[in-house]
Amino acid sequence: MPNSPSVAVSDQPRPHIKSKQRVAAHGEVFTPPHIVEAMLDLVEQETANLASRFLEPACGDGNFLEPVLRRKLAVVDRFYKKSQYEWERNAVLAVTSLYGIDILEDNVQACRERLLGVVAERHDTHFEEPNLRFLESVRYILARNIVWGDALTLLTVGSEPAPIVFAEWSPVNGSRFKRRDFVFDDLLHPEQASLGPRQPGLFGEEQESLFHKPNRPLVSDRGENVFLPHRLREYPPVHFLELSHAHG
Ligand SMILES: C[S@@+](CC[C@H](N)C(=O)[O-])C[C@H]1O[C@@H](n2cnc3c(N)ncnc32)[C@H](O)[C@@H]1O
Repeated sequence: MPNSPSVAVSDQPRPHIKSKQRVAAHGEVFTPPHIVEAMLDLVEQETANLASRFLEPACGDGNFLEPVLRRKLAVVDRFYKKSQYEWERNAVLAVTSLYGIDILEDNVQACRERLLGVVAERHDTHFEEPNLRFLESVRYILARNIVWGDALTLLTVGSEPAPIVFAEWSPVNGSRFKRRDFVFDDLLHPEQASLGPRQPGLFGEEQESLFHKPNRPLVSDRGENVFLPHRLREYPPVHFLELSHAHG
């Protein structure tokens, strides 16, 4: 990979386990690629849709997320290869759609690096001009979307566990993305999110005030119950090449 410093990609076959100790402690056994591909074939249309979101809740180093990303980038290649700018914008869209959680920090780092490596490698294949701002945006999104956390307790792991928060990235006005953060627990349990007081102390006062809790369930004009997740925080739209600078 001549153009992208500090991004490593390996073509080596990946082992199914790293150690017996990790299997015993964390059930870490990796899914073989042919099984992953067969499973992804079942949702082929979604893997070809740049905006369709995927969450791998015990992602390891990304055995599902990587091939989903490759499938999406194949679509980006097909439609946008002639323009570096358009390719980069749509590659960013593809990356924003991928989410992962793992309880082991080294897996989380490896997953982020692996996905970044795939994007960088594809970029280098098509374009002579490296674009560090593009790579920084991709790196920034992956740092938010691939979470070091416990998918059972829905808390982050580390010295100060906190509720897992996921960012939703929506393309607006052509080249900008709007980020809105949501508490993962609320997305999984909407009935709980719209009821009663939240466990005190989990969020600061400023963030608590952002929650809007309707008293009654919302109903669509077709009479169906509607789930509107409460956003924790939202950010102004930012150019896709400026994400890492704008959000800090
Ligand atoms: C069976 S491996 C699957 C890895 C990958 N999804 C695959 O299919 O190859 C299980 C993964 O879940 C992680 N894990 C175990 N308990 C977890 C938990 N409570 N929350 C999040 N990840 C967990 C392990 O670290 C390991 O990477």
